[in-house]
Amino acid sequence: MADIGTDILRAKEILQRGGLVAIPTETVYGLAANALDVTAVTRIFKAKNRPHFDPLIVHVSDADDVLTYAESLPPQARTLMNAFWPGPLTILLPKKSIIPDLVTSGLDRVGLRSPDQSLTQSLLKELTFPLAAPSANPFGYISPTKASHVNDQLGDRVDYILDGGECSVGVESTIIGFEPTPVVHRIGGLAVEQITKLIGDVQLRTSSGSNPHAPGQLDSHYAPRKPMFTGDIEKLLPQYSNQSVGVLSFQQAFTGAAIHQQIILSPSGNVDEAAQRLFSAMRELDQSSVEVILAEWVPDEGLGRAINDRLRRASF
Ligand code: TXA
Ligand code: MG
Repeated sequence: MADIGTDILRAKEILQRGGLVAIPTETVYGLAANALDVTAVTRIFKAKNRPHFDPLIVHVSDADDVLTYAESLPPQARTLMNAFWPGPLTILLPKKSIIPDLVTSGLDRVGLRSPDQSLTQSLLKELTFPLAAPSANPFGYISPTKASHVNDQLGDRVDYILDGGECSVGVESTIIGFEPTPVVHRIGGLAVEQITKLIGDVQLRTSSGSNPHAPGQLDSHYAPRKPMFTGDIEKLLPQYSNQSVGVLSFQQAFTGAAIHQQIILSPSGNVDEAAQRLFSAMRELDQSSVEVILAEWVPDEGLGRAINDRLRRASF
């Protein structure tokens, strides 16, 4: 198991010598290494069992660092950065050669993001390099939103876990590129409505199973090990009445003899709260004794769209 704490100088020292540190962000925990050090970045791929075709997001302290790593910044990208950084928005920009090809899986763009989490911000300000960091989970599994989630699965493969408590947003960042018109590649912690309010319509290109531009969009992703089905729980329940069922509901409680565990994401019906709790709830049900997980869709607006996207990818 890894050491867990809030020692930024220790995290810095480990990262400087090419080690791995799990870092808290407002979205999910990341598995970080020096983005400019190929040997260190290789360790990330190994620790996660992540295929090399899946590129890593590079975390910077603020917008001032962007042109050190990107060739250019389209005006709409600058507008979004000014409005939403630090925050749950990753922007794909043409990369400079200082960013190793390994980080971008050979693609000519780099995903940059400034995370809105105080410990990680302090750490980034201490460092002279940016941090490459995918979500700190084994490839394909549910992303971690607490230090203990990281420790449970990757504790023996990271040198230190920086503990920032529970992530405040709870789903991964929204990813946008400019081609040259804006394209959202992953619906995430910044609502698409917020983006369109500032820059107008955006194209959504988030569903392909083998899209080389956003491999994080692989159809089976964020998945628990138990079978999970999403739909109308009242209709699904009779089909699983002879199994031990775990229910993941949005707002209401369900009753049924087969239900052995139930988690209500937001009794008040707030999609932000539901997003914040989603991955923790999926993990809890996955680790419980239930045999099958039944979930329901949430309202498809704001962060509800990110929740439904994750539910769809986690489900059969
Ligand atoms: O919220 C987040 O984005 C979290 C925290 C730790 O920052 N990170 C995260 O990383 O979710 P990861 O690796 O689990 O998902 C990032 C996805 C990749 O799978 C890939 O689809 C996309 O971002 N991506 C990264 N760099 C890219 C690039 N250069 N071109 C296209 N897509 C890229
Ligand atoms: Mg991930």
